[in-house]
Amino acid sequence: MTAQLNARGDVAVVVPAAGAGLRLGPGAPKALRLLEGEPLLVHAVRRLAAAPSVRMIVVAAPRADVAAVQALLAPVASVTVVAGGAERQESVAAALAVVPDEVPIVLVHDAARCLTPPSVTERVAAAVRGGADAVIPVLPVVDTIKEVSADDVVLGTVDRSVLRAVQTPQGFRAAVLRAAHEAAADSHTDDAGAVEKLGIPVRCVPGSDLALKITRPLDLALATHLLAMPDPETPPARPGPLV
Ligand code: CTP
Ligand code: MG
Repeated sequence: MTAQLNARGDVAVVVPAAGAGLRLGPGAPKALRLLEGEPLLVHAVRRLAAAPSVRMIVVAAPRADVAAVQALLAPVASVTVVAGGAERQESVAAALAVVPDEVPIVLVHDAARCLTPPSVTERVAAAVRGGADAVIPVLPVVDTIKEVSADDVVLGTVDRSVLRAVQTPQGFRAAVLRAAHEAAADSHTDDAGAVEKLGIPVRCVPGSDLALKITRPLDLALATHLLAMPDPETPPARPGPLV
């Protein structure tokens, strides 16, 4: 069933999905690889479309696959598809270029984080709506982290309590994201990094284990299991009356 986006929502989501997925091994571009029979991008767009604040979704697809991605997503939700670029940053810029100026909040969400629950999208959007210029979903770091020299000798143990692993969607006041992209001279792996370089504070909100990025084959195997798990933040449907 085609999901109806909320025409009165205040959020556009830009979805970079034009990467090759080299670390996943040989095959189709990553966003088009299958997870339980459906492309990662379909899983991602379905969850974005289920977030009530979202009024527009723009996907940056591999240039050769724009028409195929349009056809693939048409039954999922009303989505705009543009051709991505050689770098993630270029793909984000191409998608951002078609977001109308009147949309006040823009989220950037990796197609590769295809199981991100709508609750995370809403939490990020709400923090921007509440006044933050830039918002990132984060998780505490669970491993012990060491700093090491080029020849693999430990230099020290990093204080884990001040570290966070960063996920997407990252949310921005639209004008702030546009300014950061225009100012970014060198390449950056996340959009909040470009905002940081402008000296603008970036706020953290809780992320989700379900928002893992599918990067290597192990992640795909993990995602297959996670697909069967309910979003821990969505209360289960109330049971019907007992008879
Ligand atoms: N991406 C993109 N355009 C690019 C490169 C990446 O839109 N030129 C997107 C990917 O499709 C993905 C997100 O950015 O949704 C995060 O990138 P990553 O996980 O690195 O995906 P890939 O670049 O596809 O994977 P790899 O680096 O293993 O090739
Ligand atoms: Mg990449």
